[in-house]
Amino acid sequence: SAASDRPEVIESIAALRERFPAGTVALVPTMGALHAGHVALVDHAAALARETGGEVVVSIFVNPLQFGPNEDLARYPRDLDADLDTLAGHGVAAVFHPSVEEMYPQGPSQTRVTAGEVGGLWEGASRPGHFDGMLTVVAKLLGIVRPAAAVFGQKDAQQLFLVQRMVRDLDIPSRIVGVDTVRADDGLALSSRNRYLGDDERIAARVLSAALAAARATAAGATAAGDGAAPASAVRAAAEAVITDEPLAALDYLGIVDPATFHPVDDEFRGEARVIIAAKVGPARLIDNGTLDLR
Ligand code: PAJ
Repeated sequence: SAASDRPEVIESIAALRERFPAGTVALVPTMGALHAGHVALVDHAAALARETGGEVVVSIFVNPLQFGPNEDLARYPRDLDADLDTLAGHGVAAVFHPSVEEMYPQGPSQTRVTAGEVGGLWEGASRPGHFDGMLTVVAKLLGIVRPAAAVFGQKDAQQLFLVQRMVRDLDIPSRIVGVDTVRADDGLALSSRNRYLGDDERIAARVLSAALAAARATAAGATAAGDGAAPASAVRAAAEAVITDEPLAALDYLGIVDPATFHPVDDEFRGEARVIIAAKVGPARLIDNGTLDLR
């Protein structure tokens, strides 16, 4: 990936729209500080674009609308140069990198998309307004780029759920594609926020993925015993104990949800559920999730 493979950078909405015809692009929306998780989305988008004769655009925009007043907007890592190096050689035609003024020329508090009831659960309960701000910028990006497809990570499962529902509810003609979570060797889901972790905290952060593994093991253990999967409440308790046993981690929520509704499942639920976790480890608020077979 030589420097000459670095994507072109486009800063204005007008230039972006002029360069890419509607319905041709595979878009990967990001906030930058790119890591191998983002690159997996880009590679997926490149495969989609190859099939359809389109091109890949990555947007890099730290969206103020989706950060709460006490969150990490100011210190969120921004390094466009490093991001362009990361993308070199991955078949990205352009990086869309607008300023805050380009995206919100009238100031931030104009029309918003509301995420509805699920927008107030889980991440939304802990981060009021987060999902409205996220959906608003995603709606803008879809309106600017008019992509054939937009690619999102399962890492942010509730975000993916809400984006999928928004395009359905608002008849936005882009296909939304989800990509599996990319993890470090010890299981930690890659995240731009992992760089906030000190050495001990980085080790402690393993409890999020370990809790997902404990949930799966508890469900599978009961299945092996011939009783069908353990009830969701027992699975949940086993997973929660993994987090609460770690002194450097503070659990925010741990839910077992129906992927069709994002509401908690009851003990009679049968099928594929999703375990969703948020915990604070030192200065970093981390999230993770994974599927859970409750047959
Ligand atoms: P950001 O946190 O930069 O994430 C951009 C995309 O990368 C999201 O779809 C996210 O789910 C995905 N992603 C992050 N870590 C991943 C991992 N370890 N494996 C797979 N995919 C991963 O999410 C946002 O930005 C913003 O909310 C955005 C959608 C850009 C709107 O501002």
